[in-house]
Amino acid sequence: MKGREIKEGVYFVGAIDWDRRLFDELIPLPDGTSYNSYLIRGSKQTALIDSVYPPRENELIEHLKELNVEKIDYIIANHAEGDHSGAIPTLLKIYKEAKVVTNQKCKEMLVNFYHIPEEKFLIITDNETISLGDKTLQFIMAPWVHWPETMFTYLKEEKILFTCDLFGSHIATGDIFPVDEPKVLESAKRYYAEIMMPFRENIKKHLQKISTLDIEIIAPSHGIVYNNPSFILDAYRDWTSDNVKNEVIIPYVSMYGSTFKMVEYLTDKLSEKGIKVKPFNIIKSDIGEFTMALVDACTCVVGSPTVLTGIHPAILLPLSLMNVLRPKLKFFSLIGSYGWGGRTEEQVKGFLTNLKAEYLGSVLVKGEPVDKDFKNLDALTDKIYEKHKELGLFDKI
Ligand code: FEO
Repeated sequence: MKGREIKEGVYFVGAIDWDRRLFDELIPLPDGTSYNSYLIRGSKQTALIDSVYPPRENELIEHLKELNVEKIDYIIANHAEGDHSGAIPTLLKIYKEAKVVTNQKCKEMLVNFYHIPEEKFLIITDNETISLGDKTLQFIMAPWVHWPETMFTYLKEEKILFTCDLFGSHIATGDIFPVDEPKVLESAKRYYAEIMMPFRENIKKHLQKISTLDIEIIAPSHGIVYNNPSFILDAYRDWTSDNVKNEVIIPYVSMYGSTFKMVEYLTDKLSEKGIKVKPFNIIKSDIGEFTMALVDACTCVVGSPTVLTGIHPAILLPLSLMNVLRPKLKFFSLIGSYGWGGRTEEQVKGFLTNLKAEYLGSVLVKGEPVDKDFKNLDALTDKIYEKHKELGLFDKI
C-alpha cells in the first residue's frame, strides 16, 4: 500500500505484512498484521510516529521517498518493542538530524536493544509538548500497555491520538479506516485477548486519562485506524469491565474418548440450561480463538485425561495462558478420565494461581464414564447454573 494522507498533513507510511502468520513465535496471525508508522508535516518541522518491524523497513523508507521527505526532525518512539522501534537505527542513518523523542524508560530500552547513541535522544515527560509549527505533539505516559515504557502521542490540532499497541489489531488490509466493522472488531478483540488482557486495570486508568482529550481519530500502530473512536473505546470499556457473560469455555484434550464423552455431555446439559458453551479441542483449535473466549466467559471447565501421574501435557498451554492472561473468569472446574490415580486436580489448581476464580470442584472418572459419573456432571451443571444465576447472567440475555 502507498503512503496515504489520513488527515491534513498526517500520512500513513507503515508496512502491511500480509504473509506473517505468527507473532513472538506464539500468537497466530490468521489475517497477517501491519506496522503503522505516521508522518506528520508541520509548518516548521516534521515528525514520524513509530517506525516498523526491521524486515519491512524498506516499505517505510519508500513511503517517505514518495512523499519527498528530505528531513525528519523528530522520531517519536511510543514503545521500544522491535516491531515499532526496530527500524529507528536505519532511519537515523538516512535522517541524520532526527532526534528520537521518548520517555526516560523507553530511552534506556532503545539503548539496550538497538544501541542508539545517547546524544540522539530528546527525553520528554507526561503532558510535555513539542511544536512542529502549526501542529503540536503532546505526550501522554501510559505505562504497562503492554510494556513498562509505553506512551501515547496526541496531535492536538488534528485531534489524533497515536496509541501504538493499545487498540491495535493484527490485520493486514488495504483499508485504513474500518470497512468491515465486525471483522475489525474480531481482530481487535483477538489482539486485546492475546496482548492486553493482563493489563486490564492499567487500561481502565488510561481510558479515564484520555477521556479528557478531544479525539477524532485513534491511530494505533497495528491494523485499522479508527475514525469513529467510540467504536473501539466502547469495546475496550466492555472488555476491561468486570462484567462477564453467561458463557462456559471448555478447553480439553481426550486420548481414548472418555474425557470427550464427558465434555460432550456437559456441553449438552449446560446448553439445555441456556448457557452458551464453547468447547475447544486444544489439539485442533486456534489458540487465539480460545483466548478471545476468555475475554467474556464466566466459567472455565478444564477437560484433561490423566497421563501417568498428572495432566495431559497438551492442556498445559491453555492453563498457562489462563494464568498469565488473567481473564475475569469467576469460576473454574475440572473434568476428565484416569486409569489408576494421579495428581491431575492438584496440578490444575497449582497452574492457575493467578486466577481469582472460585473452584467448583472436579468430576474425575476412573475409565469410561458410567451413570453415576453422568449424574456427577448433572450436579456440576446445576452448580454452574446456580452460580451464573446468582450473578444475574440470565437477566442479561
Ligand atoms: Fe506491537 Fe508491543 O509491539
